[in-house]
Amino acid sequence: MTNFKLAIACDHGGYELKQEILAYLDKEGIAYEDFGCDSTASVNYPVYASKVCKAIQSGDCTRGILVCGTGIGMSMAANKHRGIRAACCSDTFSARMTRMHNDANVLCLGGRVVGAGLALDMVKLFIETEFEGGGRHTERVAMLAEIENEQ
Ligand code: RB5
Repeated sequence: MTNFKLAIACDHGGYELKQEILAYLDKEGIAYEDFGCDSTASVNYPVYASKVCKAIQSGDCTRGILVCGTGIGMSMAANKHRGIRAACCSDTFSARMTRMHNDANVLCLGGRVVGAGLALDMVKLFIETEFEGGGRHTERVAMLAEIENEQ
């Protein structure tokens, strides 16, 4: 986890949950950059998804967390970015498996879907779980990149 840095952002629907996540990251001493938004005033989620994805694409941040009302809009926007593998999760099994099998680099959460306790468990798993690698998973992740290149 040397040099590990998280990029995090939300829209108005995810603002309150993002505040809980920031408090958790502070408590655990996990490095992060917060790309907004900064209140519950209405904003457009694709703008914030792009900020986090660009920070990962540039290598400035290792992984990202995006929070909107459902997590769905953020995941749709994030997955439009080259090299981004975003997973919208509402359970801890998926949050762990998407790291192990998909090498997901962005976790999307719904602030109106999951409570803070469950969300923080998912955040912990998403940060701590490593990609399993090995033949088949590496090949499948490479196939995702091939699809991107065909577009
Ligand atoms: C905002 O009302 C809501 O649409 C947004 O937070 C998100 O859930 C979109 O997917």
